[in-house]
Amino acid sequence: MKDLKYNEIREKYLDFFKKKGHAEIPSAPLVPENDPSVLFVNAGMFPLVPFLMGEKHPKGTRLTNSQRCVRTGDIDEAGNNFHCTSFEMLGNWSLNDYFKEEAIRYTLEFFVGELGLDINNIYASVFGGEDGIPEDKVSISTWENLFKEYGIDAKVGEGERIQKFGKKENWWGLDSGGPCGPDSEIFYDTGKEPCGENCNINCNCGKYIEIGNNVFMEYLKEGDDLKPLGRHNVDFGGGLERITAVIQKVDNVYEIDIYKPILEKIQEITEKNIDTKVNTGDMLKSQRIIVDHIKASTWIVMDGVVPSSNQQGYILRRLIRRAVRHAKKLNIKQPFTKEIAEVAIDQFSPTYPELDEKREEIIKIIEEEEIKFNNTLENGLKELENLLEQKNKISGEDAFKLYETYGLPLEVTEEILAEKNITLKERQNFFSAQEEHQEKSRTASKGLFKGGLADTSEVSVRYHTATHLLLASLRKVLGEHVYQKGSNITPERLRLDFPNESKLTSEELKQVEDLVNSAIKQELNVTFEEHPKEEALKIIEKYSSTSSFEEKYPDIVKVYYIGDKEAPFSIELCNGPHVNNTKELGKFKIVKQENIGAGVKRIKAILK
Ligand code: ALA
Repeated sequence: MKDLKYNEIREKYLDFFKKKGHAEIPSAPLVPENDPSVLFVNAGMFPLVPFLMGEKHPKGTRLTNSQRCVRTGDIDEAGNNFHCTSFEMLGNWSLNDYFKEEAIRYTLEFFVGELGLDINNIYASVFGGEDGIPEDKVSISTWENLFKEYGIDAKVGEGERIQKFGKKENWWGLDSGGPCGPDSEIFYDTGKEPCGENCNINCNCGKYIEIGNNVFMEYLKEGDDLKPLGRHNVDFGGGLERITAVIQKVDNVYEIDIYKPILEKIQEITEKNIDTKVNTGDMLKSQRIIVDHIKASTWIVMDGVVPSSNQQGYILRRLIRRAVRHAKKLNIKQPFTKEIAEVAIDQFSPTYPELDEKREEIIKIIEEEEIKFNNTLENGLKELENLLEQKNKISGEDAFKLYETYGLPLEVTEEILAEKNITLKERQNFFSAQEEHQEKSRTASKGLFKGGLADTSEVSVRYHTATHLLLASLRKVLGEHVYQKGSNITPERLRLDFPNESKLTSEELKQVEDLVNSAIKQELNVTFEEHPKEEALKIIEKYSSTSSFEEKYPDIVKVYYIGDKEAPFSIELCNGPHVNNTKELGKFKIVKQENIGAGVKRIKAILK
């Protein structure tokens, strides 16, 4: 096996695929530009969906890159050996060009020929058929033939070199639908003892590491329907961190060359504050979580996100606050995120120069959130202990009080409880208490508003409602094709992205602005109903998908109405919060229109 560094492996991969006729494309920013179906880019293929669907890519039919990704579902797993919240995915794509045989051959040639992995340690999984879709015979025979070329008589079956699995393991597509298909993963056997009789390549015990996945995107998923896509695409993705761990013969990603200095930094800080109460295993886990979360935060802030109480901002807040909580477990009392972020930026800025360009800003944003949380955390933890002592349980309502008073995110409370083997009671009440609180504070602060003393969250609530009015007005003026492709709210302005081929004329802009202002003048009530997801989707169906985006809809969702429910000015699936009546919005003004490409327009507007 070759002795290669993280950055060298990336270079080798890109060079290899460039030699095979692939054009290199840049890594897209983490926050999807025009697609609100996920909070963060979570796979290399995400920015390529239109091209996998058939749009012509200007760089041809063979593409490659290393895409920065964030997987929010992995946050709780961060700290384990092979899960990172943020990571780089090496990718190569065939847009209706080569297919299974060539793709698997390239993959194996790269891992064995270029990186020098021992073929004897390579295993493969293939789709074994399910739901009327047949097993992937071509991939099976391709692997058999390739192994044979290396002198290995590969068998297919349980415990064999080629193993068959169903959809759960060997089918891939985005949760929101779109191009998808059977896949074939490649694994490396680290030589560890099997974890038991049932040890297999997918058991996650650490013996076999998945180092890559070829997805054969020949299907299209729309809702529950699956149909042929009419194209044969390949989407390969391989986690650079994991591949590096295998090459560098370490059993976790925190020991690879690019991460190690960050881990050492937090270890150095821990040393100074050593707390004998923490056992070594817990200590290491907390240190890794800090490394993972602060490094991910530097990337997320680099891509324009600031901590807040919703969407990407909330994920960022959760990462920073969870890191701070783990630092407390390590007895670290002084601010520490700056020191960790500095090293994380040093490590990754050769690849992402923007990290260095924005160094001060990134560090400041993370540190401010740390200090804010620090100021109340200790009291929050004490209060949690008190509550537990008093009644031996914590309810959703208690958890909300802890969030409201001490900034303890729900997940942090749940994590602390889990450490004590306690489950949160009536979790749902967290959300109803939150809603009730928002109602109250809206009513209470109405008077203050007039004096211009509104706090930031109050301003955001107004902008949020104004966004609904803007979207509804755009649909009235431009047509039903308009929907919310992306939205972003700061205390200064709202921003809405929507599809429309041509730029809006000044008349159209004026019409839209007037419509919003007339809705404000009409003093329309803002109300919501809660419905099971399916029902809610039916209600808004006739208004098309104008919903403010949620990564995954919960089982019960809110339908927000502005105006009379029988003939609302606006209706959207949305979590809220909103003002009670449009009269709270003041005057609405469009300040900017931008063309952000691919038939998407952006409007920025303010409330005065
Ligand atoms: N998009 C595929 C994955 O994430 C390669 O596994």
